[in-house]
Parts: sequence; C-alpha cells; structure tokens
Amino acid sequence: MSALKTSDKILVVGAGAMGGGIAEVAAQAGHIVYLYDMQAPMLEKALKAIRKNQELLVSKGKSLPENARNVVERIHCIDRLESASDASLAIEAIVENLEVKQSVFRKIEEILNANAILATNTSSISITAIASKLARPERFVGMHFFNPAMRMKLVEVIAGIASSEHILSVVYETAKTWGKIPVYARSTPGFIVNRVARPYYAEGLRVLNEGALDIATIDAYMRNACSFPMGPFELMDLIGHDVNFAVTNSVFNAHYGDKRFAPSLIQQELVLGGRLGKKTGQGFYDYKEGALALRTQTLDAKDGHMAVIASQNNPMIGGILDRFSAAGIRVQYEDIPPNQIRIGDSVLALTNGGTATSRSAEGKIQNLVHIDCALDFALAKIALLAKSDQCSQVNFDGVAGTLQKAGYQVSRIDDIAGMLACRTICMLANEAADSALQGVASIEDIDIAMRFGTNYPKGPLRWADDLSLKYVFEVLSNLSKHYGEERYRVSPLIQRKAISGDYFYGAT
Ligand code: NAI
Repeated sequence: MSALKTSDKILVVGAGAMGGGIAEVAAQAGHIVYLYDMQAPMLEKALKAIRKNQELLVSKGKSLPENARNVVERIHCIDRLESASDASLAIEAIVENLEVKQSVFRKIEEILNANAILATNTSSISITAIASKLARPERFVGMHFFNPAMRMKLVEVIAGIASSEHILSVVYETAKTWGKIPVYARSTPGFIVNRVARPYYAEGLRVLNEGALDIATIDAYMRNACSFPMGPFELMDLIGHDVNFAVTNSVFNAHYGDKRFAPSLIQQELVLGGRLGKKTGQGFYDYKEGALALRTQTLDAKDGHMAVIASQNNPMIGGILDRFSAAGIRVQYEDIPPNQIRIGDSVLALTNGGTATSRSAEGKIQNLVHIDCALDFALAKIALLAKSDQCSQVNFDGVAGTLQKAGYQVSRIDDIAGMLACRTICMLANEAADSALQGVASIEDIDIAMRFGTNYPKGPLRWADDLSLKYVFEVLSNLSKHYGEERYRVSPLIQRKAISGDYFYGAT
C-alpha cells in the first residue's frame, strides 16, 4: 500500500500542544497543511512555536534556513474548515470529548471529498465510538502521536470496528514517510502505550504506599539500575497528576472497574490537593525556588567478604560475579541453587517475587538477602537489597559490604514481595502479554510502541524473554499468592508459554 504523496494536503484541526506539533511534522514532510482552531489566538501561538522550533533546528545544524522557512510557509492557518475542502487527510487534535469530536468530524465529512481520510489523535476515546456518527466510518482511523509530536517517533495507527484495511495501511505508510515509527493497534481502552505503561506508575505507587522505599531512591533505582529514562514519580510529576490520574481512571473505568487498573489513593490525594507536579510547582517533588532536593537513601560503607561461592548456573546474576572478580573477590563455583551467591554464611538471591522472609522460611535458607532485578548487573550503579526478617543485621551488612567492594552503591528496601524493579518489569510484561493475547497489537508492535512511545530501554516482552518466561511466571505467581489481588493475576499467555518452555521471540 502506498503513502499519501507530498502533493496531498493535510488538514489539522486543533492547534494546541499536539495539533501544532502534528502540523509541523506534516509540513516538514513536504505537505501543504491547513491548520484550524476555533480560537484564533491558538493558531498564532502554534505558528510562533513552530517558527521557534525550526530556528532551533537550524541553529543546531539539523536543518537549513531555507528548509525551515519552507516548513513555516507550508502551514496555512485557516479560520473556517471550508477552506480545507481539498485536503486528503484530516487529523483532529481538539478537546478530549466524544460529542465534540463527533460533531467536528460530521462537519469535516461534509466538507472534504469522499476519498479523504479522517483521523483522530485521541488518547483515550474509542475510535469506533467517534466513527459511529459518520456516513462512511470505514475511512476513519486513530492516528495517535506522542508528545512532543516532532520529537517522539511513535504513531499508533488504530483500527475501529469499521476502519478499512486499506485506509489503515495508507495512514501507516504515510506516518513512515513522515519519519515516524508506526504500529497497528485495535481500538481498546488506552490502545497500546497508555495501557501497557500503567504498571510503571502503579507498582512505584504500591511500593511507596507500603512504605518500603522513598520516592527519590525509587526513581534513582529505576533510572540508574534499569535505564528507564525517568523514575515513576518524576515522570508522573512531569506528565501532571491530573492527566496521569485521568488516564488511569479512564483505563480502569473502560475495563468495567477491573482491579488490575485500580488508581492509587496517593495520587488522588495529590490531585485533590492541587499538587499536579512540575506545572504547579509541587507534586511528589517540590519545584519551588529554594526547595531542597530529596536525597536518595544509600547505606554507609560496610565490611565485606573477599571470597564468595556461586552456583554454576547464574544466567541472571552473572554480571555481579564479573564485578566481584574484577574487584579481586574470589568466586568459587559449587553445586548450589541457580542465581544464588553464598557470602560468608548468608545467601544473596535474586528476588523470586515473594518476600525474602517467606522464602527463607519455606526453603529453610539461613540469612537470606534478596537482590532486585537490574537491566544489566555488570553496568548497574545501584544494588537494591531486602533483608529477610530471619537474617541478622551483621549478616546483611556483610552482603552489602561485599557488593560495595564491587562498586555498587547499596540501598535497602523493606522486604516486600517482588521488591521494586522486578515487580514493575514483570507487571509491564504481564500487561503487554494480555494486550497481545487480546489482539490489541502484535508482540513486535507492543514492544516497538513501548520503546518509542515511552523510551523504555527494552520492550517488555523482549525483557520477559531475556529474564526467561519461567522466571516471570514464578514472580507473578508469587505476587499473586502474596497479595491475593486481581491486579497480580498472571496473563494466560505468560502462563502457557512458561509451562511449555516457549518464548515471545525465540531463544536469544
Ligand atoms: P490542547 O488543549 O493543548 O489543544 C486543543 C485545541 O483544540 C485548543 O487550541 C482548542 O482551542 C482547540 N479546540 C477545542 N475544541 C475545538 C473545536 N470544536 N474546533 C476546533 N478547535 C477546537 O490539547 P492537546 O493536549 O493538544 O490534546 C489534543 C488531543 O490530542 C486530545 O484528544 C488529547 O487526548 C490528544 N493527545 C494529547 C497528548 C498530550 O500529551 N497532550 C498526547 C497524545 C494525544
């Protein structure tokens, strides 16, 4: 299927944060763009922002002055939709309200010719519902850009119940020629990104709610040990709690109150108190001038050991052993359970999704310390540890000190099930797996969407493969057993693949 040609004209309706960016993307790709907004000052504001951004690109050497001028000249602000009657594609980015969107599209449908494609940038409204009032719903699709539209690569191309395959593929190919990375999704609550990303916020909030670890250390760990671009709390502060809470509520309500998506009371409290994040000067962090930055919690230096005993089978914590060897700590291999290291008479083990306390009791493991998952233990700056209640403080300190010798900053989280990163990554994979199972999008497209819509370091399903689905299943089962809540029910797809030894992508 072919993309639209640069000679095709594009209508963008709504010149706010998204519409302005989308108009710039289309003009940059060579199209004449009609930009319409019911508030004339918004058009001037959008054009000013586009001009400024184009100048910035020139000053950074990413564009030539002539190109920048052409981009701005290709954008024609119009004061009535009728002036865009020869547009081939209309992209709507107005207020997030079903009735208003339906009425605007009815008008667009009357004005544009019968072959024109109609697309909405809605982030949460059903594509099927918006299309339902159109005479020709088959030419209507979702074209969901991410903020800021010029910089974010992802575009979700979303099919409503009536959308034609042909129109979907034209929009997909067009997004590609605009320098974007498109993925296909079905019209379901939150589409891909806004659904699959929910656990990133939810698990951080749960850890905080249980008083297991402070905000700054949670953010620091997710950034420095897992390579997420931002921790959950700084990210929620940036998005705005009103927006983030509204998206969570919308996904929760759209799933008929499925507890899996239940919003957090902590976040509700911030919204009620008007602490909406960076934009109001206060959220989880204080952004007001003179405010003190929150300090991360790091353990003081402890005495460590210069020799450890490791299992011969350490697929997931081999990076720690490499760091030990590099620091002159002798590693001796013996026949002990996988992903465990004996340090003195303590056992350091990768968390299994339960608490270290229950694992210690059930497995009769003396002085057990859990370590949280990291993207790559060979490179991680921080190690996060949880002490089982049965482990003595001296033993815990000996484990922490040994990791410190290998260059890790060590922080301690209270002994909660699945710690922090482990439960977050496994829950992201769980949601991604359910989305794949329910036909929201393909496995590949879900991972692409999460990498380019949220800049996660890895797609959650690829990450699950790398951790091994057997491990992810074990973690999720233990979380489910521990909490007994619907939130932690295991995706049937993960369950099945883990049992049969299958992968999402195949062995790496
Ligand atoms: P915004 O509030 O910045 O801009 C909306 C613009 O639409 C305003 O300039 C307003 O005057 C105009 N408008 C409202 N009703 C109109 C009508 N009936 N006819 C013509 N113009 C009208 O909103 P924003 O953030 O740009 O969002 C627009 C759409 O994009 C929404 O559907 C939103 O859910 C979606 N979206 C927003 C993202 C974001 O991060 N802000 C990301 C992806 C999608």
